[in-house]
Amino acid sequence: MSWYKLVSRPRRSRRTETLRRLVKGVTLSSSDFIYPMFARTGENVSEEVPSMPGIFRFSTDLLTSEAKGVSELGIPALLLFGTPGKKDKEGSQSYSPEGAVQRAVTELKQSVPEMVVMTDVCLCSYTDHGHCGIVSGGEVDNDKTLTLLSKIAISHAEAGADMVAPSAMMDGQVRAIREGLDDSGFKGTGIMGYSAKFASAFYGPFRDAADSTPQFGDRRGYQMDPADAREALREIELDIEEGADIVMVKPALSYLDIIRQARDRFDLPMAAYNVSGEYAMIKAAARNGWIEEKRVMLEVLTSIKRAGADMIISYFAPEVARLAQKGEL
Ligand code: PBG
Repeated sequence: MSWYKLVSRPRRSRRTETLRRLVKGVTLSSSDFIYPMFARTGENVSEEVPSMPGIFRFSTDLLTSEAKGVSELGIPALLLFGTPGKKDKEGSQSYSPEGAVQRAVTELKQSVPEMVVMTDVCLCSYTDHGHCGIVSGGEVDNDKTLTLLSKIAISHAEAGADMVAPSAMMDGQVRAIREGLDDSGFKGTGIMGYSAKFASAFYGPFRDAADSTPQFGDRRGYQMDPADAREALREIELDIEEGADIVMVKPALSYLDIIRQARDRFDLPMAAYNVSGEYAMIKAAARNGWIEEKRVMLEVLTSIKRAGADMIISYFAPEVARLAQKGEL
Protein backbone atom coordinates (compact mmCIF):
# COMPACT_ATOMS: atom_id res chain seq x y z
CA MET A 1 0.00 0.00 0.00
CA SER A 2 1.43 3.35 -0.98
CA TRP A 3 -0.86 5.55 1.14
CA TYR A 4 -2.45 5.54 4.56
CA LYS A 5 -5.99 6.47 5.60
CA LEU A 6 -4.99 9.16 8.05
CA VAL A 7 -7.81 11.29 9.41
CA SER A 8 -5.52 13.90 10.87
CA ARG A 9 -2.89 15.36 8.63
CA PRO A 10 -1.62 18.52 10.35
CA ARG A 11 0.60 19.16 7.35
CA ARG A 12 -2.51 20.16 5.32
CA SER A 13 -2.51 23.54 7.06
CA ARG A 14 1.22 24.03 6.56
CA ARG A 15 1.15 23.73 2.77
CA THR A 16 1.34 27.36 1.76
CA GLU A 17 2.48 30.66 3.23
CA THR A 18 -1.08 32.06 3.28
CA LEU A 19 -2.50 28.94 4.92
CA ARG A 20 0.19 29.13 7.57
CA ARG A 21 -0.58 32.79 8.14
CA LEU A 22 -4.27 31.99 8.51
CA VAL A 23 -3.82 29.36 11.22
CA LYS A 24 -0.99 31.15 13.02
CA GLY A 25 -1.20 31.14 16.82
CA VAL A 26 0.68 34.26 17.80
CA THR A 27 1.54 37.30 15.71
CA LEU A 28 4.01 39.97 16.78
CA SER A 29 3.02 43.57 16.21
CA SER A 30 4.70 46.93 16.78
CA SER A 31 2.15 47.73 19.48
CA ASP A 32 3.43 44.86 21.63
CA PHE A 33 6.71 46.63 22.29
CA ILE A 34 8.26 48.93 24.84
CA TYR A 35 11.65 50.28 23.77
CA PRO A 36 14.27 50.83 26.50
CA MET A 37 16.44 53.94 26.04
CA PHE A 38 19.38 55.39 27.98
CA ALA A 39 19.33 59.09 28.77
CA ARG A 40 22.49 61.00 29.66
CA THR A 41 23.36 64.60 30.32
CA GLY A 42 24.98 66.96 27.82
CA GLU A 43 24.11 68.08 24.33
CA ASN A 44 24.51 66.40 20.98
CA VAL A 45 26.18 63.32 22.45
CA SER A 46 25.59 59.71 21.58
CA GLU A 47 27.73 56.87 22.86
CA GLU A 48 27.23 53.37 21.57
CA VAL A 49 27.20 50.69 24.28
CA PRO A 50 30.06 48.35 23.31
CA SER A 51 28.29 45.16 24.35
CA MET A 52 24.96 46.23 22.81
CA PRO A 53 25.46 47.10 19.12
CA GLY A 54 22.85 49.58 17.92
CA ILE A 55 22.04 50.83 21.45
CA PHE A 56 23.23 54.27 22.54
CA ARG A 57 23.30 56.58 25.51
CA PHE A 58 21.77 59.79 24.19
CA SER A 59 21.67 63.35 25.45
CA THR A 60 18.13 64.76 25.64
CA ASP A 61 18.15 66.38 22.18
CA LEU A 62 19.27 63.25 20.34
CA LEU A 63 17.09 61.00 22.45
CA THR A 64 14.07 63.06 21.50
CA SER A 65 14.71 62.91 17.77
CA GLU A 66 15.37 59.18 18.03
CA ALA A 67 12.11 58.77 19.96
CA LYS A 68 10.19 60.53 17.19
CA GLY A 69 11.39 57.92 14.75
CA VAL A 70 10.48 55.15 17.18
CA SER A 71 6.98 56.57 17.50
CA GLU A 72 6.59 56.80 13.71
CA LEU A 73 7.41 53.11 13.56
CA GLY A 74 4.27 52.45 15.62
CA ILE A 75 5.96 51.61 18.91
CA PRO A 76 3.69 52.95 21.69
CA ALA A 77 6.04 53.17 24.66
CA LEU A 78 9.55 53.89 25.89
CA LEU A 79 11.24 52.83 29.12
CA LEU A 80 13.87 55.36 30.18
CA PHE A 81 17.05 54.76 32.15
CA GLY A 82 19.40 57.49 33.30
CA THR A 83 23.12 57.81 33.76
CA PRO A 84 24.11 60.71 36.01
CA GLY A 85 27.23 62.82 35.80
CA LYS A 86 27.94 62.35 39.50
CA LYS A 87 27.34 59.42 41.83
CA ASP A 88 27.24 59.43 45.63
CA LYS A 89 26.36 57.20 48.57
CA GLU A 90 22.65 57.98 48.51
CA GLY A 91 22.23 58.42 44.76
CA SER A 92 21.03 62.00 45.14
CA GLN A 93 21.09 62.73 41.40
CA SER A 94 18.27 60.21 40.96
CA TYR A 95 15.53 62.64 42.02
CA SER A 96 17.06 65.87 40.74
CA PRO A 97 14.62 67.84 38.55
CA GLU A 98 17.66 68.54 36.34
CA GLY A 99 18.57 64.84 36.06
CA ALA A 100 18.96 63.18 32.65
CA VAL A 101 15.72 61.20 32.98
CA GLN A 102 13.64 64.10 34.28
CA ARG A 103 14.85 66.35 31.46
CA ALA A 104 14.31 63.70 28.83
CA VAL A 105 10.75 63.06 30.07
CA THR A 106 9.87 66.76 29.99
CA GLU A 107 11.21 67.12 26.47
CA LEU A 108 9.59 63.92 25.22
CA LYS A 109 6.15 64.87 26.53
CA GLN A 110 6.44 68.14 24.59
CA SER A 111 7.91 66.83 21.36
CA VAL A 112 6.39 63.32 21.10
CA PRO A 113 3.22 63.69 23.22
CA GLU A 114 1.57 60.49 21.97
CA MET A 115 4.45 58.31 23.22
CA VAL A 116 3.83 56.50 26.51
CA VAL A 117 6.82 57.45 28.64
CA MET A 118 7.81 54.98 31.34
CA THR A 119 10.76 55.47 33.68
CA ASP A 120 12.90 52.99 35.54
CA VAL A 121 12.91 53.77 39.25
CA CYS A 122 16.05 52.45 40.90
CA LEU A 123 19.23 53.65 42.55
CA CYS A 124 21.94 51.43 41.07
CA SER A 125 23.15 53.86 38.38
CA TYR A 126 23.17 56.73 40.88
CA THR A 127 24.96 55.25 43.90
CA ASP A 128 28.76 55.09 44.05
CA HIS A 129 28.54 51.51 45.38
CA GLY A 130 26.21 50.42 42.55
CA HIS A 131 23.56 48.78 44.74
CA CYS A 132 19.84 49.35 44.18
CA GLY A 133 19.29 50.99 47.57
CA ILE A 134 20.77 52.69 50.61
CA VAL A 135 23.55 50.61 52.13
CA SER A 136 23.92 50.52 55.88
CA GLY A 137 26.06 48.03 57.77
CA GLY A 138 27.05 46.30 54.53
CA GLU A 139 23.43 45.56 53.59
CA VAL A 140 20.79 47.27 51.53
CA ASP A 141 18.30 48.83 53.95
CA ASN A 142 14.84 48.08 52.61
CA ASP A 143 12.74 50.74 54.29
CA LYS A 144 15.18 53.64 53.98
CA THR A 145 15.33 52.79 50.29
CA LEU A 146 11.54 52.92 49.98
CA THR A 147 11.47 56.58 50.96
CA LEU A 148 13.99 57.36 48.24
CA LEU A 149 12.27 55.28 45.56
CA SER A 150 9.07 57.14 46.24
CA LYS A 151 10.92 60.45 45.93
CA ILE A 152 12.42 59.39 42.58
CA ALA A 153 9.01 58.28 41.29
CA ILE A 154 7.45 61.63 42.26
CA SER A 155 10.22 63.52 40.45
CA HIS A 156 9.52 61.47 37.31
CA ALA A 157 5.79 62.11 37.62
CA GLU A 158 6.46 65.82 38.03
CA ALA A 159 8.39 65.75 34.76
CA GLY A 160 5.37 64.12 33.12
CA ALA A 161 6.03 60.36 33.11
CA ASP A 162 2.96 58.27 32.27
CA MET A 163 4.17 55.30 34.28
CA VAL A 164 6.99 54.60 36.69
CA ALA A 165 8.67 51.21 36.87
CA PRO A 166 10.36 50.33 40.16
CA SER A 167 13.13 47.77 39.59
CA ALA A 168 14.97 47.75 42.94
CA MET A 169 13.23 44.61 44.28
CA MET A 170 12.66 46.19 47.69
CA ASP A 171 9.73 44.78 49.66
CA GLY A 172 6.76 47.14 49.55
CA GLN A 173 8.19 49.35 46.79
CA VAL A 174 4.98 49.47 44.76
CA ARG A 175 2.94 50.42 47.80
CA ALA A 176 5.40 53.11 48.90
CA ILE A 177 5.43 54.62 45.42
CA ARG A 178 1.64 54.44 45.04
CA GLU A 179 1.22 56.31 48.33
CA GLY A 180 3.86 58.86 47.40
CA LEU A 181 2.30 59.52 44.01
CA ASP A 182 -1.22 59.79 45.41
CA ASP A 183 -0.16 62.12 48.22
CA SER A 184 1.54 64.38 45.68
CA GLY A 185 -1.50 64.55 43.43
CA PHE A 186 -0.35 62.05 40.80
CA LYS A 187 -3.27 59.63 41.04
CA GLY A 188 -3.20 59.12 37.28
CA THR A 189 0.44 58.10 37.08
CA GLY A 190 0.67 54.33 36.66
CA ILE A 191 3.08 51.76 38.05
CA MET A 192 4.67 48.92 36.13
CA GLY A 193 6.23 46.66 38.73
CA TYR A 194 9.37 44.72 37.97
CA SER A 195 7.51 42.14 40.00
CA ALA A 196 9.41 38.94 39.36
CA LYS A 197 12.97 40.05 38.79
CA PHE A 198 15.64 37.40 39.03
CA ALA A 199 19.30 37.80 40.03
CA SER A 200 20.47 37.14 36.50
CA ALA A 201 23.80 37.14 34.71
CA PHE A 202 21.89 38.22 31.59
CA TYR A 203 21.99 41.83 32.88
CA GLY A 204 25.73 42.08 32.17
CA PRO A 205 25.62 44.31 29.08
CA PHE A 206 23.04 46.61 30.70
CA ARG A 207 25.41 47.29 33.56
CA ASP A 208 27.88 48.38 30.92
CA ALA A 209 25.26 50.75 29.53
CA ALA A 210 24.07 52.11 32.86
CA ASP A 211 27.42 51.82 34.63
CA SER A 212 25.63 50.11 37.50
CA THR A 213 27.75 47.11 38.49
CA PRO A 214 27.75 46.64 42.28
CA GLN A 215 31.17 47.54 43.68
CA PHE A 216 30.94 44.87 46.38
CA GLY A 217 28.86 41.71 46.66
CA ASP A 218 25.98 41.08 44.28
CA ARG A 219 22.20 41.55 44.10
CA ARG A 220 21.16 38.16 45.43
CA GLY A 221 20.02 39.69 48.71
CA TYR A 222 17.15 41.41 46.90
CA GLN A 223 16.70 39.92 43.42
CA MET A 224 15.24 36.42 43.20
CA ASP A 225 16.98 33.09 42.89
CA PRO A 226 16.63 31.73 39.33
CA ALA A 227 15.61 28.36 40.74
CA ASP A 228 12.43 29.59 42.38
CA ALA A 229 9.13 29.73 40.50
CA ARG A 230 6.66 29.87 43.39
CA GLU A 231 8.36 32.87 44.92
CA ALA A 232 7.99 34.67 41.58
CA LEU A 233 4.25 34.14 41.65
CA ARG A 234 4.12 35.42 45.22
CA GLU A 235 6.06 38.55 44.26
CA ILE A 236 3.64 39.21 41.39
CA GLU A 237 0.66 38.73 43.68
CA LEU A 238 2.12 41.20 46.19
CA ASP A 239 2.69 43.82 43.49
CA ILE A 240 -0.93 43.47 42.38
CA GLU A 241 -2.14 43.89 45.98
CA GLU A 242 0.11 46.94 46.38
CA GLY A 243 -1.44 48.64 43.35
CA ALA A 244 0.65 47.79 40.28
CA ASP A 245 -1.06 48.47 36.94
CA ILE A 246 1.24 46.23 34.92
CA VAL A 247 3.34 43.36 36.26
CA MET A 248 6.57 42.08 34.75
CA VAL A 249 8.72 39.00 34.53
CA LYS A 250 12.42 39.59 33.95
CA PRO A 251 14.49 38.23 32.22
CA ALA A 252 12.20 36.64 29.63
CA LEU A 253 13.94 33.87 27.76
CA SER A 254 15.07 31.67 30.65
CA TYR A 255 11.81 32.33 32.49
CA LEU A 256 9.12 31.46 29.93
CA ASP A 257 7.59 29.01 32.42
CA ILE A 258 7.11 31.84 34.91
CA ILE A 259 5.46 34.00 32.25
CA ARG A 260 3.05 31.18 31.41
CA GLN A 261 2.19 30.42 35.03
CA ALA A 262 1.66 34.09 35.82
CA ARG A 263 -0.51 34.52 32.73
CA ASP A 264 -2.71 31.61 33.81
CA ARG A 265 -3.05 32.89 37.35
CA PHE A 266 -3.34 36.69 37.11
CA ASP A 267 -5.48 39.00 35.00
CA LEU A 268 -3.36 42.14 34.99
CA PRO A 269 -1.53 43.18 31.81
CA MET A 270 1.85 41.49 31.86
CA ALA A 271 5.17 42.58 30.43
CA ALA A 272 8.29 40.48 29.90
CA TYR A 273 11.75 42.00 29.67
CA ASN A 274 13.91 40.63 26.86
CA VAL A 275 17.05 41.81 28.63
CA SER A 276 20.43 43.09 27.47
CA GLY A 277 22.20 39.72 27.59
CA GLU A 278 19.50 38.12 25.47
CA TYR A 279 20.01 40.91 22.93
CA ALA A 280 23.80 40.79 23.05
CA MET A 281 23.96 37.01 22.53
CA ILE A 282 21.96 37.20 19.31
CA LYS A 283 23.94 40.19 18.03
CA ALA A 284 27.27 38.54 18.81
CA ALA A 285 26.42 35.18 17.27
CA ALA A 286 24.97 36.86 14.19
CA ARG A 287 28.11 38.98 13.74
CA ASN A 288 30.13 35.81 13.69
CA GLY A 289 27.84 34.39 11.04
CA TRP A 290 26.76 31.60 13.38
CA ILE A 291 23.02 32.27 13.35
CA GLU A 292 20.50 34.10 11.16
CA GLU A 293 19.84 37.21 13.21
CA LYS A 294 16.38 38.11 11.93
CA ARG A 295 14.95 34.62 12.27
CA VAL A 296 16.42 34.00 15.72
CA MET A 297 15.21 37.40 16.93
CA LEU A 298 11.67 36.72 15.74
CA GLU A 299 11.67 33.19 17.13
CA VAL A 300 12.71 34.41 20.58
CA LEU A 301 10.22 37.28 20.65
CA THR A 302 7.42 35.01 19.40
CA SER A 303 8.18 32.53 22.17
CA ILE A 304 7.87 35.29 24.77
CA LYS A 305 4.48 36.32 23.42
CA ARG A 306 3.35 32.71 23.10
CA ALA A 307 4.29 32.12 26.74
CA GLY A 308 1.73 34.78 27.64
CA ALA A 309 3.35 38.22 27.70
CA ASP A 310 1.08 41.05 26.55
CA MET A 311 4.03 43.38 26.02
CA ILE A 312 7.70 42.87 25.45
CA ILE A 313 10.35 45.30 26.61
CA SER A 314 13.07 44.81 24.01
CA TYR A 315 16.10 46.48 22.46
CA PHE A 316 14.95 44.83 19.23
CA ALA A 317 11.70 46.86 19.16
CA PRO A 318 12.61 49.19 16.25
CA GLU A 319 13.97 46.30 14.18
CA VAL A 320 10.72 44.37 14.61
CA ALA A 321 8.64 47.46 13.85
CA ARG A 322 10.60 48.01 10.63
CA LEU A 323 9.84 44.45 9.59
CA ALA A 324 6.19 45.03 10.45
CA GLN A 325 6.12 48.10 8.19
CA LYS A 326 7.47 46.05 5.33
CA GLY A 327 4.88 43.35 5.99
CA GLU A 328 7.58 40.85 6.91
CA LEU A 329 6.31 39.62 10.28
C1 PBG B 1 18.13 48.34 37.51
C2 PBG B 1 17.88 47.54 36.29
C3 PBG B 1 18.65 46.52 35.70
C4 PBG B 1 18.01 46.19 34.50
C5 PBG B 1 16.85 46.96 34.44
N1 PBG B 1 16.78 47.77 35.55
C6 PBG B 1 19.96 45.95 36.08
C7 PBG B 1 20.13 45.19 37.32
O1 PBG B 1 19.20 44.89 38.05
O2 PBG B 1 21.29 44.91 37.59
C8 PBG B 1 18.48 45.18 33.49
C9 PBG B 1 17.99 45.40 32.09
C10 PBG B 1 18.72 44.62 31.04
O3 PBG B 1 19.60 43.78 31.32
O4 PBG B 1 18.41 44.86 29.86
N2 PBG B 1 18.04 47.70 38.71
